[in-house]
Amino acid sequence: MAIERTFSMIKPDATKRNLTGAITKKLEDAGLRVVASKRVWMSRRQAEGFYAVHKERPFFDELCEFMSSGPTVVQVLEGENAILKNREVMGATNPADAAEGTIRKEFATSIGENSVHGSDAPETAAEEIRYWFSDTEVVG
Ligand code: CMP
Repeated sequence: MAIERTFSMIKPDATKRNLTGAITKKLEDAGLRVVASKRVWMSRRQAEGFYAVHKERPFFDELCEFMSSGPTVVQVLEGENAILKNREVMGATNPADAAEGTIRKEFATSIGENSVHGSDAPETAAEEIRYWFSDTEVVG
């Protein structure tokens, strides 16, 4: 399997509880390398743009409100099979369904405030990385 890059966010519920290091450690322990990272307080408009694919969903407003309610850490992760590996370490979207040892099982409080986001496919990973980072900010 080739080395891949994926996009990850540590969401406001987690930054508020000072979990940036604990979550990043779980990613690193799984063999993922942080090759870009910055803390941003996204605007409502940035949240709406990032999550545009969910525009028609009933939770879209709540999601954008939450994502612009506090700081988020946006990251690029690199490693073998990084997209799938990151999703395994994150666990299921709803923490009630997440497996033991996953980030969401350990830290998430609800399906909305679920501590992390990770890209689901190579195309979305490339798009999401481009949304938050310029080429020179990603240093492998
Ligand atoms: P994420 O991986 O960031 O992608 C979209 C997000 O929408 C998802 O994680 C959840 O946090 C959120 N989401 C999904 N379903 C619901 C829901 N039923 N209610 C509120 N938020 C949701």
